[in-house]
Amino acid sequence: MFTNLSRRRFLKLAAGLGVVVPFSKKPAMAKTKRKQTAGPALPVILSSRNAEWGRPVNRAGYKILAKGGDVIDAVIASANVVELDPNDDSVGYGGIPNEAGTVQLDACVMHGPTHNCGAVACLEGIKMPSKIARLVMERSDHILMVGSGAQRFAVAHGYQVENLLTEKARLTWLKWKENLSQDDDWLPPKDGIYRDSKGRVHGTINVLGIDSTGNLGGVTTTSGLWFKIPGRVGDSPIIGAGLYVDNEIGAAGATGRGEEVIRTCGSFYTVQMMGQGMTPAQACLAACKKIVAINKRNGVEIGFSDKFIAVNKKGEVGCAAILGSKKKPPLAACRDKNGFREIVGQYLIERK
Ligand code: GLY
Repeated sequence: MFTNLSRRRFLKLAAGLGVVVPFSKKPAMAKTKRKQTAGPALPVILSSRNAEWGRPVNRAGYKILAKGGDVIDAVIASANVVELDPNDDSVGYGGIPNEAGTVQLDACVMHGPTHNCGAVACLEGIKMPSKIARLVMERSDHILMVGSGAQRFAVAHGYQVENLLTEKARLTWLKWKENLSQDDDWLPPKDGIYRDSKGRVHGTINVLGIDSTGNLGGVTTTSGLWFKIPGRVGDSPIIGAGLYVDNEIGAAGATGRGEEVIRTCGSFYTVQMMGQGMTPAQACLAACKKIVAINKRNGVEIGFSDKFIAVNKKGEVGCAAILGSKKKPPLAACRDKNGFREIVGQYLIERK
């Protein structure tokens, strides 16, 4: 007999080892249902990137799924491509630091078949926070670990603490710092440029996957809002906000202004909308509409954007964003049995 706790530990362990745990007394029926819902294009990897960035990201995860590999192995392999890239300034190594000049990373992972999940927030010194989120899911009885505790947990599992601040990121931060105020003792930069042309960015990546048997998984990873107040946590490590997976319906992930996504449970909402019959593209647009409606009710002019990507149980995909333009519509990158393609989504408001 399992106690509640020991059963939970067993389930978590089983998820980590890829063991099939009989949840139902009728496993054969569950298997038949999976077969019926698996679409012809499976497996699928969907990431919240344009073609240039998305191709190598999707390739890494798809390679694993094409060989019949585990969906969490696949989405994390895809996320690692960006986390390790020093030229990506919004995720992992090379991410733009917080107000104090320290890179603090957020990530989460969710496994459809077991509904297990794990997350880290404000994690310093570890290049691949998605792997630590997975460890939280598989090697602890917790779901979210933050700050120095999350770092100690990573070190306990053999990870080394490294300096994540690249020279490029440090200079971007220094320019911001030196421009911040006339009322402090930091002199303006010699080139006198007041703002970085990109402003303050919320970069992030979501990777969603569905294997050839219809099992779903996802990961979201980010260095968060540029120059954030130390300790700020965005939507990316919050299950239901930056990521949500329901193995019976589909998976969704969010990028953009995390505060809006948290207060609308954006990814959970997107998956629920698919559960009510919307296509992934419609569900993503519905989540954007909800955020806009809440802000309009409060008289807030929309000067920010959020983007959602989603995949349903059949392997259909979609994306949508709040802001966009004809030249720069919301994009996502998809790799399935038919090859690689860029997904162009709808948007609600023309970007100025
Ligand atoms: N969506 C990423 C963040 O707000 O941190």
